[in-house]
Amino acid sequence: MAGRQAAVALLRRGLGSLAEQAGPQRKVAILGAAGGIGQPLGLLMKLNPLVSHLALYDIVGTPGVAADISHVNTRAHVSGYAGEEQLGEALKGADVIIIPAGVPRKPGMTRDDLFNINAGIVKALATAIAKYAPHALVNVISNPVNSTVPIAAEVFKKAGTYDPKRLFGVTTLDVIRARTFYASKKNLPVKDVDVPVVGGHAGITILPLFSQATPQVPITQEEIEYLTKRTQDGGTEVVQAKAGKGSATLSMAYAGAHFADACLKGLNGVENVVECSYVESTVTDLPFFSSKVHIGKNGVEKIYDLGPLSDYEQQGLKDLHVELAKSIVKGQTFVHDNP
Ligand code: NAD
Ligand code: LMR
Repeated sequence: MAGRQAAVALLRRGLGSLAEQAGPQRKVAILGAAGGIGQPLGLLMKLNPLVSHLALYDIVGTPGVAADISHVNTRAHVSGYAGEEQLGEALKGADVIIIPAGVPRKPGMTRDDLFNINAGIVKALATAIAKYAPHALVNVISNPVNSTVPIAAEVFKKAGTYDPKRLFGVTTLDVIRARTFYASKKNLPVKDVDVPVVGGHAGITILPLFSQATPQVPITQEEIEYLTKRTQDGGTEVVQAKAGKGSATLSMAYAGAHFADACLKGLNGVENVVECSYVESTVTDLPFFSSKVHIGKNGVEKIYDLGPLSDYEQQGLKDLHVELAKSIVKGQTFVHDNP
């Protein structure tokens, strides 16, 4: 009897791993893979059965990170690339490219204070992507996302490779925070909770829509204002708690892995893959905006409009306009002024 059970378990395991191997070959490249986000993100992508090849790129440190992660007994083959001369190899054939490269905030800084350093980093990486992997879905994590996504778009336009369906600013961490804070405030099982977050990814440009949260439960205006502010200041809460040692890395790795998984599912033809993301958009009069996006085989298949907003959210939408517009223009101008 025990022998039979063991044989059945073995067969199940065999079939399971066969199914796992049978998915399409998918290469994911992480740029900034040796950093605070890059390392746990690399590990999480190594655990993702949809990934067949994981390319870890950074300016330094990637051979060690790649050797370490490569020992995990999951599907993805892992390779490490260090230094600019290896960037092309890291990118070639990539289906999804995740960019957490760049400096993080210290207490007292805004995300925009990172612009001077990170704009150049994202511009250089986008230039290489245009050359080596122009059809990949690109997930930009590097801050300030409100500007770095327009930077990547301008670089791709100049290179003649721009496809707005394939460029995403990762705002998933805002959604994850809004869900966590809402569930905790209203004593709900967090796995059942969803909260769309629209706009951008900095301060008041982060606009959680608690009027559309599910499940709907009685909530006071005071609670909504508290939850909105906490979601908008979530990044700063972590920066302050880390007291000079950087910003969110672990929760961001989780968020980045979740969003990259959605991109892989979309590419693989899974239906109904919908995530909030900061993309080129006509949902408002701003050229880039985060809202719910349907991700399919070609990237963005559909951008959902904002749906009915409460008066408080309408006001939030008005309030974020100037700042988000400025950040977008700042990114675009940077590329034009630095050819
Ligand atoms: P980190 O300093 O720990 O790591 C950054 C890594 O980028 C380093 O390993 C560094 O060597 C690498 N790097 C620098 N220049 C590079 C280049 N030209 N090419 C490749 N790699 C390069 O920082 P972190 O904590 O991982 O944060 C990275 C970025 O992510 C920051 O800009 C931070 O603000 C941003 N961030 C965004 C979100 C979001 O929600 N979108 C959340 C958290 C952090
Ligand atoms: C976050 O939201 O945690 C990131 O954008 C990092 C930061 O600087 O707050």
